[in-house]
Amino acid sequence: MPLSGKRILLGVTGGIAAYKTAHLIRLLIKEGAEVKVIMTTSALSFIAPLTLATLSKGAVYHAFFDKNTGEWTNHVELGNWADLMVIAPLSANTLAKMAVGQSDNLLLCTYLSCTCPVLVAPAMDLDMYQHPAVRQNLATLRQHGIEVMEAATGELASGLSGQGRMPEPEDILSAVFTFFRPSGSPLTGKKIMITAGPTREAMDPVRYISNHSSGKMGISLAEKAAERGAQVTLILGPSSLNARHPSIQTIPVSTAIEMYEQAKKSHAQSDIAIFTAAVSDYRPESPSSEKIKKKDDKLSLTLVKNPDIARNLGQEKKPGQVHVGFALETDEGSGSASNKLKTKNFDFIVLNSLLDPEAGFQKDTNQVTFIDKTGKSQKSQVLKKEELASKILDKIEVFFQTTEPQENR
Ligand code: C5P
Repeated sequence: MPLSGKRILLGVTGGIAAYKTAHLIRLLIKEGAEVKVIMTTSALSFIAPLTLATLSKGAVYHAFFDKNTGEWTNHVELGNWADLMVIAPLSANTLAKMAVGQSDNLLLCTYLSCTCPVLVAPAMDLDMYQHPAVRQNLATLRQHGIEVMEAATGELASGLSGQGRMPEPEDILSAVFTFFRPSGSPLTGKKIMITAGPTREAMDPVRYISNHSSGKMGISLAEKAAERGAQVTLILGPSSLNARHPSIQTIPVSTAIEMYEQAKKSHAQSDIAIFTAAVSDYRPESPSSEKIKKKDDKLSLTLVKNPDIARNLGQEKKPGQVHVGFALETDEGSGSASNKLKTKNFDFIVLNSLLDPEAGFQKDTNQVTFIDKTGKSQKSQVLKKEELASKILDKIEVFFQTTEPQENR
């Protein structure tokens, strides 16, 4: 998950958009973040702290002192805890106080003392938003290094329509993702095409030939590549899993031919192509248009070969493009993997063997051997598929780290 282990301190100020922070917290938690919330006094009139505490599964802070215990809320500790502070919605009042460094509540004290990056999502009426004092304060915050999102345009609580709405929680989430994108990755801005999952080849309208691929490996690669700043096109056969990142465009497909058509379209614009899909090698020659009836003891089905997507696109590989393939063998398989590396024109191939108990379909872990064009092979430890995805991307990054074009690229 893109925000696993990331600590986000969410400041909520008084505005009708405060109700949307409930949804924002759900999105952040779903992506793996830990969330703590600080509310101003006026925010308490718009949404109940209990709602936010329940959704964030954590504390909601408001006062400097707990009236019952007399305990002090340590704003310095709160600020130090956070990897990112997000203030959404940001009212004109809190904005003005932030711009001048006023600190008359817990949220403002924490803001002034925290050393992590800060992202704000202003929300106010359209005329307030355009007021020169507000524009000036927003500019001041930007000068102070704060990431200021522009308010969205649309219907406002006043009944008027214009710019002043809090950006949608999904847009705030995208802005949060960009904070945690590792900087300086050679994959930033690169276009990556990934085929993933199984394919289904119809026998008749109700039955098909397929395999046990879950799509997990390809989806992990897509998410990890997007976290490094890549623009990913994920061509995904039938899978119960989804990729979750705004920089991933998922194209759902069913058959090998559909997967090939989509792969041809995005391959030409891609810097990198990763072929993780378990494509059916064969499909029924002429699927019946009606359900095949149970009659004889034996039924023969004529199968014809599907296009080999990786091999065909390997022939169209342009200098500078990197192709990575996978091989799943039921034996040790390094000989046939090396053979595939050549015939499919891969830069390297990732071999899994079903002999390894930790590897293969439907599993969360994998143990692989990387084989490159020079014949060099390297066996990995047992890794979670997400960790393996990062390892594969590290290897791909090496291809972009040298300025000299590499041999046969
Ligand atoms: O030949 P084999 O299926 O073992 O090759 C595996 C590699 O080729 C994988 O990277 C797989 O995604 C790719 N492939 C493909 N199209 C096919 C068959 C395999 O892209 N029809």
